[in-house]
Amino acid sequence: MATGINRQEQLGEDALTAVLPHRDPYPLPEAACEPVLSYPGRLTTDEILQPLASGFATVSADGALTPSPIIPNSVVLTDNLFGLHQMIANGTKATLIYLDPPYNTGLDFQSRQLEHSYKDSQGVAAYVEYMRRRLVLMREVLADDGSIYVHIGHQMVSHLRVVMDEIFGAANFRNLISRRTCSSKNYTRNRYSNMNDYVLFYSKTANFKWNQPGEKPPEEWIAKEYNKIGPKGRYKLVPVHAPGTRNGATGGLWKGMMPPPGKHWQYLPSKLDEMDANGDIHWSKTGNPRRKVHLTDDKLVPYTDSWTNFRDAHHQSIEITGYPTEKNLHMMRMIVGASSDPGDLVLDPFCGSGTTLRAAEDQGRRWIGFDQSFAAIKATLKRLRHGSEKMGDYVDRGRTDDEDDPKVVDLFGAPDGKNKVETKPPSNRAAVNFTFAVDEELIDPFRNEISALAST
Ligand SMILES: C[S@@+](CC[C@H](N)C(=O)[O-])C[C@H]1O[C@@H](n2cnc3c(N)ncnc32)[C@H](O)[C@@H]1O
Repeated sequence: MATGINRQEQLGEDALTAVLPHRDPYPLPEAACEPVLSYPGRLTTDEILQPLASGFATVSADGALTPSPIIPNSVVLTDNLFGLHQMIANGTKATLIYLDPPYNTGLDFQSRQLEHSYKDSQGVAAYVEYMRRRLVLMREVLADDGSIYVHIGHQMVSHLRVVMDEIFGAANFRNLISRRTCSSKNYTRNRYSNMNDYVLFYSKTANFKWNQPGEKPPEEWIAKEYNKIGPKGRYKLVPVHAPGTRNGATGGLWKGMMPPPGKHWQYLPSKLDEMDANGDIHWSKTGNPRRKVHLTDDKLVPYTDSWTNFRDAHHQSIEITGYPTEKNLHMMRMIVGASSDPGDLVLDPFCGSGTTLRAAEDQGRRWIGFDQSFAAIKATLKRLRHGSEKMGDYVDRGRTDDEDDPKVVDLFGAPDGKNKVETKPPSNRAAVNFTFAVDEELIDPFRNEISALAST
């Protein structure tokens, strides 16, 4: 061993660099160096944060316009760049920001009534910088205990992951969630069928609000996990000891037995006696005690980073506005519940048909939504004033876990109206108290359109 490196190390993964450290003349970046995407026209953070003049006016039902700052519970017709600058100038902080921006699909989206909704095609660098500028502003708006969810497609998820790491810090990355959007289709193309989009979840700091969300366990999971049935219902068996030794009573004798080596009793012997008396301890034939954990009605299984139960609204028999890229209301309720508390402010800077706003309102949060499309604002105003309809493209007949469970056989019915089975009325019809506001710059060019929106 003349080199001081044993043969085993030479053959390990560092073999080449250990033996021939100077062969590559080009050094690698320092470990702390974070990669950024590079392209012409990339502004510095300071440039992005330079205040931009912005003014807003509220629109009353009769179309009257009154200059006003953006206040909570507002739907605002604006490019969010200006809305975000206003929020920064006003010192308004949001606990949760959810955004579902255009995915850069190269498509032009229309509503079900064939109205143009928004264009979704930009060059890659233009898209990245467009999003980066807005995300830098969103970080300023986000409260220190806040979280941000970026919903995005396969087209730009990798680029935005790098941008999010740059702006929010890789340490604040929480999850890359894959969401199943629909059932498999497009088998004819020369690639694997695409069924998912993605959510990048970041917090602003390590101390962020988090209310663990979960779903009711499926029957198969229950049968496997809680595989025993007794007088008190389904249960599973878990050990009565835990790793680590203890000096006190939990490290001593219970029913003449010591805990296994290196372990301690999970409860005081007196508590274990009580559990045994209640029939909550199972004794194996060899005298090994285990605790019975019974299934309770409120048992929830925590969500993972793979979401399969929040498919696109258009693919289920649930109430929707018909806006082309409308997201699933149940998904939004879950996100709002997980990452904010009642009274907190929820911001959706690309609010589309207002799904996030409705979910926030339903759960007692305050909210602000921006969108620059008249079709989107119209859909949001309609949803908040009059509720939404069951009008997806088709229904998933097997689905039963939908709380609104409308049991519509055919969404629109056959053209003659056959097949349509009406059931209970939609649940989210209750009108919401909110303010409709517009960017002042839009008033002169779009006075008539704004007035039409006022009375939507
Ligand atoms: C994918 S959709 C959002 C759908 C929404 N999540 C829903 O449930 O209906 C994206 C929206 O972003 C809007 N948008 C695009 N760029 C914008 C910008 N700079 N400011 C405000 N809205 C913008 C589009 O008009 C579109 O309504």
